[in-house]
Amino acid sequence: MRIEDPKILEALAEMGVELRSGTALSAETHLGIGGTTDLLSIKSHDSIPDLLNLLDSHHVPHKFLGGGSNLLVQDGELPWVALQLARSEPEVTLAGNFARIDAAADLGRTVTYCAKNDLGGMEGLIGVPGTVGGALRMNAGAYGTQIGTYVREVKLYRAAARKLETLRGDQISFEYRHTSFAPDDMMLAVKLELPSKPFKEILQGIRICNEKRRASQPLGQKSAGCIFKNPPGASAGRMIDELGLKGLSVGDARVSDRHANFFVNAGTASASDMLSLIADVRERVAKNFGVTLEHEVVLWLA
Ligand code: EPU
Repeated sequence: MRIEDPKILEALAEMGVELRSGTALSAETHLGIGGTTDLLSIKSHDSIPDLLNLLDSHHVPHKFLGGGSNLLVQDGELPWVALQLARSEPEVTLAGNFARIDAAADLGRTVTYCAKNDLGGMEGLIGVPGTVGGALRMNAGAYGTQIGTYVREVKLYRAAARKLETLRGDQISFEYRHTSFAPDDMMLAVKLELPSKPFKEILQGIRICNEKRRASQPLGQKSAGCIFKNPPGASAGRMIDELGLKGLSVGDARVSDRHANFFVNAGTASASDMLSLIADVRERVAKNFGVTLEHEVVLWLA
């Protein structure tokens, strides 16, 4: 979708919002898949209520883009514009055991920064790609760590109330890959409380998680991480593997040979290739195990 109305363009410029016209989201997502739209880069949190009012009053549909690491976007010209927070400086501010982090900050970089300041707890999250905001929204986790455990405060834009709000950690529920945020809430910043730990000890934990990840996940390839959530008490990856589906492909969309719950883009896969593969695997798992797998990956489909 393209914004061409000069009134909107002028208002965006006044708000300090940068418009990247005709951006291919295939270049903004880790899967390397996705059509084209205008990307609006937001520099100041305070401009968000006015920006959203502007878009709504001109009937411009929009979606919030984080780091694009857990996202499958449809092909072609997209029927929404994408909004993204620009990176800010400093991304992390520390005070004792509290870390105030901008939602646009890279999660891995943040974990490392906190570690260097003797703040641990998040070792398991080191290899999880994406932004802190994205991790927060879906309570990212790995190797026994979930970000939600450490959340004490979240600053967000609440689309329903059309205003910026700050929630305490105990006002938010964090479950397995799920939070109580509304789908159109936009994460802006978070305050974490992290346990003190010597850097060397944290580094050891980070190394162990990195090794496990390297041994079991296709890190060098384009993917959105795990495609399906694990059903209670079971492993989606193991079920898909047991059905012998590693290597199954539709066009360049392919079930990874290394981890069966990772579907990779081995070249120039389209969203429809990937969606067909997802539907096929889901159907086979349902038929053989009687389990309907839920998507873990976020889908942007009209
Ligand atoms: N397994 C197989 N074949 C496979 C893949 C896995 O037999 O192809 C078996 C493993 O041997 C193991 C079990 O299935 O016994 C579980 O596998 P793994 O330890 O790799 O963990 P997972 O449950 O598949 C989850 C998260 C990952 C996270 C890892 C490590 C989900 C959907 N996935 O994977 O998160 O990195 O644990 O904590 O919860 C993601 O969210 O995108 C993601 C990759």
